[in-house]
Amino acid sequence: MDLPFNVDLSGQVAVVTGGSGVIGGMFAKALGACGAKVCVLGRKAENGAPVVDEIKKAGGEATAFAANVTDKESLLEAKKQILDTYGKINILLNVAGGAIKSAMVPQDQLADQLPGEDTLFTMDPDNIKKEIDLNLYGTVLPTIIFGEAMLGQENANIVNIASMSSYRPLTRILGYSAAKAAVMNFTEWAAVYLAKSNVRVNAIAPGFFQTTQNRALQFNEDGTPTHRTEKILRSTPQGKFGDPEDLVGGLLYLVSPASRFVTGVTLPIDGGFSSYTGV
Ligand SMILES: NC(=O)c1ccc[n+]([C@@H]2O[C@H](COP(=O)([O-])OP(=O)(O)OC[C@H]3O[C@@H](n4cnc5c(N)ncnc54)[C@H](O)[C@@H]3O)[C@@H](O)[C@H]2O)c1
Repeated sequence: MDLPFNVDLSGQVAVVTGGSGVIGGMFAKALGACGAKVCVLGRKAENGAPVVDEIKKAGGEATAFAANVTDKESLLEAKKQILDTYGKINILLNVAGGAIKSAMVPQDQLADQLPGEDTLFTMDPDNIKKEIDLNLYGTVLPTIIFGEAMLGQENANIVNIASMSSYRPLTRILGYSAAKAAVMNFTEWAAVYLAKSNVRVNAIAPGFFQTTQNRALQFNEDGTPTHRTEKILRSTPQGKFGDPEDLVGGLLYLVSPASRFVTGVTLPIDGGFSSYTGV
């Protein structure tokens, strides 16, 4: 892949949760192109195989591993396999996550309810709990399990994925918003906790991207933009969706020694969305 700039990560081992997804796959390939040995984690190892193939075809080194980020035993097993294969872990990217369709509140405001539609008060709250577990616990748990192996390693770095909803909640996605706000808070907490142990912890807050998991919210079935898409583009000073590749420069900065005195920050990569009040 074309990198915005070169960072030498040769000899380092990077673990990417959600490595089979759009953003995780892109990050895994970027780290592979910088010389890191990349562990591509997915709920099933075969999910990561296409990303591993691409990294290898480009001359890099990668292996796919199975791990559910909300399941301690499966993460412990993945850690064992990774240490057996590569002997150490330098970098952890906590990318697995996303909004869960069944946890979405059907309307922006209760007053907008259409006849027959569910509301916050009739939907199953267990789905909201699952969404919080995936996005918050699914970041905290891999940090605990893989982070332990990173203590004392060169260039030890953790990068979490926050969201625009970390700053102010987005309508409809209540569990996701609460969890991503907590991911930003956890990033600061963990950065302080690990600062003197030479593990840096930062986050990236992506703005709005056209990826599979956003499609239903952003486009109608006939392909026309939803009202939400019009509002997003109006609220993004650059006036467009981001391209997932726009996130790579920020990632490479955060995992490289160029940012060696940076820890606990959440870097928005958002075309200006988080800076704009709408006026
Ligand atoms: N796409 C966007 O516009 C956007 C914006 C802000 C933040 N994000 C965040 O970026 C991250 C990646 O999103 P994406 O757009 O690449 O989505 P994606 O759906 O392509 O990738 C998410 C990945 O997480 C994996 N995953 C889900 N549950 C898991 C579990 N329990 N254990 C292990 N893996 C699991 C999925 O299989 C998938 O590979 C997510 O944390 C998401 O919340 C995305």
